[in-house]
Amino acid sequence: MSRAVLIDCDPGTDDAVALWLALASPELDLRLVTVAGGNVGLERTLPNARAVLGLGGARAPVVAGAERPLTGAYRSETRVHGTDGLGGVVLPAGPPAAPGLAADAIRDALRGAAPASVTLVGLGPATNLALALATEPPLRAAVAEIVLMTGAVGEGNWTPAAEFNAAMDPEALAVLLGCGCPVTLVTLDLTAQALVTPARVAALRAGPGGRCRAACGDILAALPPSKRLAGRGAPLHDPCAIAWLVAPALFTHRPAAAEVVLDGPDRGRTRIDRWQRSDRPVNIRLLETIDAEGFFALLGERLARLP
Ligand code: BDR
Ligand code: CA
Repeated sequence: MSRAVLIDCDPGTDDAVALWLALASPELDLRLVTVAGGNVGLERTLPNARAVLGLGGARAPVVAGAERPLTGAYRSETRVHGTDGLGGVVLPAGPPAAPGLAADAIRDALRGAAPASVTLVGLGPATNLALALATEPPLRAAVAEIVLMTGAVGEGNWTPAAEFNAAMDPEALAVLLGCGCPVTLVTLDLTAQALVTPARVAALRAGPGGRCRAACGDILAALPPSKRLAGRGAPLHDPCAIAWLVAPALFTHRPAAAEVVLDGPDRGRTRIDRWQRSDRPVNIRLLETIDAEGFFALLGERLARLP
C-alpha cells in the first residue's frame, strides 16, 4: 500500500531530484506539491516545480505558497542553485499551477483524511507547512509523520550556525517542532554522507531512462562541490528525505530533542540533544547515517521508471 504524501518545496536543484524520486516511487502516493520562495524567488520556484513535475508526467496539483518567511526578509541561495534555481538546466514549461494558496491546499488535503494517514515532507523554508498546521490545529491528527530536510547537528551551510531552510524561517520550523506530530529530521550531517561526485553522475547518466534521467544528470553535473566538505562532492540534501520514506532500511536513526534558535547571530541554528542530556523532551527522530551507495542505486533505478 502506498502512503499519501504532500511535498512542500522550493526547487531548487536537489528539490527537483527529490520530486522525481517521489514521483517514480510506487511506495508513495504524491497528492499535492506546494511551493515557497526559497533557493530562488517564488516567481522561479513555482515554474520550476511545474516544469519538473510536467517532465515526469505527474498528476498531482502544484499550488503556490509563501514568497517570504513569517518574519524577516526573503533571501535566495543562488550560489548553489544558480539564478534560475535549476543550475542553468532549461526544462520545457509545465502545466499551470492549480488555483489557491499552499496553506489552504494542505489543510484541504488533511481535512477528512483518516487519523495519521498523510505524510508531510518539507524540503524548503517551513512557512507553508507551519501556516497550515498553526491555523487549524485539529488537522494535525491526520498527519502520520512530518519529514523535514532542515537543520544541522553541527556546522551550518548558510551561517556558521544555521542550515539554509532553518535559517530562512526559524519561526515556522519552531511551529513544526512543537506541533506534537511525529517529526523526522534530515540534517546537513546526514546529507554530507550523500555526495554527488563525477563518478556517481557518470553512473547515473549511463543507466537506463529517458528525459527525466537526462535532466537529472545535467542538474547533478551542475552542482558545485561543497567547500564545507573539502570539495569531496555536493550533498544531495532533499532526495534523502524522500529516500527515508521509500527505503528506510538505508538509514540509521535515534530519538532526539530539537529546538531552533530564534535570536542573535545563531538564529536558525537547530540545537539537537541526541543523548537526553537536557531537560527537553524527545520530539524528533534524527536520521544519522545513510547507505550512500544504496541511495544512489535507488535514485538510478527509480529514474529509469520515469519518461
Ligand atoms: C537545503 O537548502 C536548499 O539550498 C536545498 O534545496 C536544501 O533544501 C539544504 O541546506
Ligand atoms: Ca530545498
